[in-house]
Amino acid sequence: MIELTNISKRFGSVDALCDMTLHIGPAELFGFIGPNGAGKSTTMKILAGLLQQDSGVARVCGLDCRTESAKVRMMLGYMPDFLGVYDDLTVDEYLQFFASAFGLPRKARRATIESVLQLTDLVGKQHAPVEGLSRGMQQRLGIARVLLHEPKVLLLDEPASGLDPRARIELRELLVELRRMGKCIMVSSHILSELGEMSTSIGIIERGRLLFAGSIAQAFARSGVGERITVRLEAPADTDAADPAADARRIADTLLREDRVARATGDAESTDGRPPVGRIVIELQPGENGSAHGHHFLIQALIAAGARIGSFVPEQARLEDAFLRLTKGALN
Ligand SMILES: Nc1ncnc2c1ncn2[C@@H]1O[C@H](COP(=O)(O)OP(=O)(O)OP(=O)(O)O)[C@@H](O)[C@H]1O
Ligand SMILES: [Mg+2]
Repeated sequence: MIELTNISKRFGSVDALCDMTLHIGPAELFGFIGPNGAGKSTTMKILAGLLQQDSGVARVCGLDCRTESAKVRMMLGYMPDFLGVYDDLTVDEYLQFFASAFGLPRKARRATIESVLQLTDLVGKQHAPVEGLSRGMQQRLGIARVLLHEPKVLLLDEPASGLDPRARIELRELLVELRRMGKCIMVSSHILSELGEMSTSIGIIERGRLLFAGSIAQAFARSGVGERITVRLEAPADTDAADPAADARRIADTLLREDRVARATGDAESTDGRPPVGRIVIELQPGENGSAHGHHFLIQALIAAGARIGSFVPEQARLEDAFLRLTKGALN
C-alpha cells in the first residue's frame, strides 16, 4: 500500500531523508518513531504529494506520488501535525466543507458525515464550534475529516501529541478499529511505548535514516533481548495453609522445560499489607514472541502447571531496550 524506494530529500545542507526504503502492506498499523527533526513529517508530506523528493520513488496503492498526485490524494487521508484554524465553523460545517472539497456527491454527504462522527465518537458535538473542542476531540475531528472520502491509506502525523492518558487510549482504540476495517495506517510519534502495543510493525528513524523496520517480534529477535513477562497468581483461598512462594517456584521450574523460555523465577510478593501472592518472572528467548499470539503457548503452559493467573504483564521497558540496542547497533 505504501512503497518508498531509495527516497532522499535535502533542505539546504540538511539531509532530511537519506535513501529511505520502506514497504507497508494492507491492514498494517505502522508506528513511525523518531526524535524531533528525524524526517517523519517529511516522509508523510512526500507520500501526500505536498513535497517532492530529490530522488527515489514514492508510491501509494501502486500510484506514483509525484506524477499521479491527484489520484493518490483520493486514496489517502493525511492528517498533518497541526489542524489549522477554522474560525467560527461548527463540527458539522467543518465536515461539510471537506466533504464538498473531496467532491463527495451532495446526497451522500449527510450519511457519510454521520458515519464518521459515529466512528470517531463525536456524535452530539455536531453543532459545537471547532475552536471550543478539547484537544482530544479536535484530534478525533482531524481523523473524521480524513475518513470522509473512505481512503485506503491513512497518514497520521503525531495524532497523540498533547492528549491526556484517557484521550490516548480512545485514540488507540480508534486506530485499532480502523486497522480492523482493513486500512493501512502510518502513525508517527516520538514515543515508542505509545505505539508499541497497537502497532503491527514499527519503523525507527533518526536523522533521515531508517534504522529499523519490521515487526516487534523481529525487533526482539534482532536485538538479542528477550521479552520479559511478570505473572501474578491469584491469592490462595486458604491463606494459612498456602505457601505462595513455593507454588510460584514450582510453576517457574515447570516453565523452564519449555524451549522458548530462557529464564523463569518464582517468589511471593505482598502489597498494601495484604497476604502474599505468588509472582513468576519469565524471560523468553530472544526472538520468541512480541505479539499476542506468541503469548499463547506461555499461558497454556502456565495453566497446565496449575497456575491460577491473576495478571499477565509483558514488560514495556524491554521493548525500549530492544530498540535501543538495535538503533545503536545500526549507528555504529
Ligand atoms: N520546509 C523545510 N525547510 C527547511 N528544512 C526543513 C523543512 N521541513 C523540514 N526541514 C528539516 O528537515 C528535517 C526533518 O524534519 P521533519 O519535520 O521531517 O522531522 P520530524 O521527524 O517530523 O520531526 P518532529 O518530531 O519535530 O515533528 C529537520 O532537520 C527539519 O529542520
Ligand atoms: Mg513532524
